[in-house]
Amino acid sequence: MMGEPDIELAVMNCSQLVTLAGPSRPRIRSEMRGLSVISNGAMLIRDGVIQSVGSREQIEPLLSAKTVIVDAHGGIVLPGFVDAHTHPVFVGNRADEFEQRAEGATYEEIAARGGGIRSTVRRTRSASEAELFDVGRRHQEWFLRGGTTTIEAKSGYGLSLEDELKLLRVIRRLNQAGPLRYVPTFLGAHEIPDEYRGNTRSYVDLILHEMLPEVAKHHLAEYCDVFCEPGIFDVSTSTEILRAGGSLGMGLRIHADQLSRSGAAEMAAQLQAATADHLEQTDGVGIEALARANVQPVLLPASAYTLGCKRFAPAREMIEAGLGVVLATDFNPGSSPTPSIPFVLSLASTQMKMTPAEAITATTVNAAYSLGRGAELGTLEAGKRADFVIHDCQHYREIAYFTGVESADAVYINGKLAFARAPGS
Ligand code: NIG
Ligand code: FE
Repeated sequence: MMGEPDIELAVMNCSQLVTLAGPSRPRIRSEMRGLSVISNGAMLIRDGVIQSVGSREQIEPLLSAKTVIVDAHGGIVLPGFVDAHTHPVFVGNRADEFEQRAEGATYEEIAARGGGIRSTVRRTRSASEAELFDVGRRHQEWFLRGGTTTIEAKSGYGLSLEDELKLLRVIRRLNQAGPLRYVPTFLGAHEIPDEYRGNTRSYVDLILHEMLPEVAKHHLAEYCDVFCEPGIFDVSTSTEILRAGGSLGMGLRIHADQLSRSGAAEMAAQLQAATADHLEQTDGVGIEALARANVQPVLLPASAYTLGCKRFAPAREMIEAGLGVVLATDFNPGSSPTPSIPFVLSLASTQMKMTPAEAITATTVNAAYSLGRGAELGTLEAGKRADFVIHDCQHYREIAYFTGVESADAVYINGKLAFARAPGS
């Protein structure tokens, strides 16, 4: 790195160094349970990049007088979590709707009467970039606290040309300011905004002819996403938008089969999407289509939980079918107001019968591949970025087990301390 002295770090005293070393691709089937754990492990890092990983005996001889020691104090060390589906930049919250749902209203009813995503859009539109940046920083701290070091970040609360660009510029600035890493996704097709109600076609034309070209021109998004749901963006409209995003060089991610079985999983397969997300309503036929096309499912159990759905995505069938399953928070002010991957790990084990090891694979290496970052993030192996977290526990499965406990003591991104829990807290 220009202008910075060589910095060498050695992470020592890890009762478990959970490396996830293995093949350079998403892990499938029984591979998802193999975390390549090194007992009493250590890791040497230079200039933010991992140099060597091994046992204490293997790493100790490599240290020099200038090596800075990071003592894990017998805690466990994992790669930083990669949260592959979030909506992190919005103004206000929807705790009022949360309360209405507790009194029996449904998410769809609230949306139909003008609440839901559209209420967040109204408030987000009125905010300046500086205000949005501050909100984004606040949410960033929440992700870091849970041990997350990279997030995929969607726009989708602007829904006009200027407001969508504004959100994507804020995401770019947040990424540049660091330390959290952001991968930007354009989600202009998140909802039909107030001024286009009953006129979906005109809004789709705005996305196709004005928003997408501008987003692409300014390189503001790596991915294009659509909320594919009958009555909002049906399969044929979604296909149109996604094809346009794809032809501008964006990868594709899709809100698919969340509230109804619309055929979005098959569409994701046909379009060779990187991911199909949600999939609560997907059946065996949809799973087969995803498997044939190598689309990674991104499962979001915290939104099913928050909406009180009885039905979680069929994770076990997906693992059996050989899909490179990913888990993410879906952090947003409506269906999933949590930035916590540890909470998602708990839900994956209790509601979807994924083992803690499978769930950790789904939130590290598999998530990194789903974002095109598998070569640099997601495992602790030589050559990868030194994004790692020291957790205060004895075994990795405790992260999924102690629900609501934040175990991340220290979070490093690029070999630099990004978050440290205050002593005694
Ligand atoms: O992934 N369903 C569409 N989008 C979000 C919800 C966003 C919101 O309610 O603000 C989701 O669940
Ligand atoms: Fe979402």
